[in-house]
Amino acid sequence: MSNTNSQHARPKSRLLITRRVFPAVIEALADHFEIEHNEADEPWGPEAMRQRVATIDALYTVATDRIDASVIEAAPHLKIIATGSVGYNHIDLAACRQRGIPVSHTPDVLTEATADMAWALLMATARRVTESERWLRDGSWKGWAWDQFLGADLHGANLGIVGMGRIGAAIARRAQGFSMRVFYHNRSESPQAKALGASLMSLNDLLASADHVVLVLPYSQATHHVIGAEQIRQMKPTATLINIARGGIVDDQALAAALQERRIAAAGLDVFEGEPQVHPELLACNNIVLTPHIGSATLSSRLGMAMLAARNLLAWRSGSPLLTPVPGL
Ligand code: DGY
Repeated sequence: MSNTNSQHARPKSRLLITRRVFPAVIEALADHFEIEHNEADEPWGPEAMRQRVATIDALYTVATDRIDASVIEAAPHLKIIATGSVGYNHIDLAACRQRGIPVSHTPDVLTEATADMAWALLMATARRVTESERWLRDGSWKGWAWDQFLGADLHGANLGIVGMGRIGAAIARRAQGFSMRVFYHNRSESPQAKALGASLMSLNDLLASADHVVLVLPYSQATHHVIGAEQIRQMKPTATLINIARGGIVDDQALAAALQERRIAAAGLDVFEGEPQVHPELLACNNIVLTPHIGSATLSSRLGMAMLAARNLLAWRSGSPLLTPVPGL
């Protein structure tokens, strides 16, 4: 009896949820956490974030927050971070490691939706879907013509995937339906890719051979501006470039210059350096498709991510291992 009482008396952990989230998440956590929830959904700047973390035990964050060393330092009681994202470059892992704070993320649940979105961008970019739609809407269409909005073939083309993790493999799997030859660049050979008939290549060879290049690699200092002016110069003038990964992997200024000079045919970007700002020279290009970081944005995928982050917090709270910890922490 006294055991049961003391269990019930266990105080809730203090949790900060940095953005408005699905009600199901709050329902799942409310019995165990005293929750502060940013229902207004206005992203907090660094100072507001530091102030809000002062007393919390647990943090539920998203990819667009910046959880740097100063935030960790401002949270002396912080014991767990759950991010509702597969990417975790927004969290200072070294600072977490130093404090022994585990971090969870949300792999797998967004893989297929993100691969679909990579294909949506690729098809819209190669076949000039949004460019021709703008032209139609502004009343420029006076009738059919042989050479109107000629795009690039996808069927039978060479697809280069930079970063062959789960999402890269899901993109490669879809390419089989288009009879594409698939090349990929990765730190090591991927058994999944091999089974799909995709061949490992150096980045330079991939850029020179691919008709379409899709970037799916995580952001880190090592991948900052992996695609800059020099790499773009190696691509075919008819090629398209798709970034579904993270802003900062592409040098957006260099890409805008290349698109303006038609050094490559077109680009499709879902992520940007310094988003939600978009480089004004990219906005000025016609041969580009721009979407606002919606790679994982289907209801089932986003709900899956949100609930997986919650389930990680519940696992932590019950003293169980995290379901999907960030590797190496
Ligand atoms: C992720 O999961 O890292 C995405 O960028 C968020 O949608």
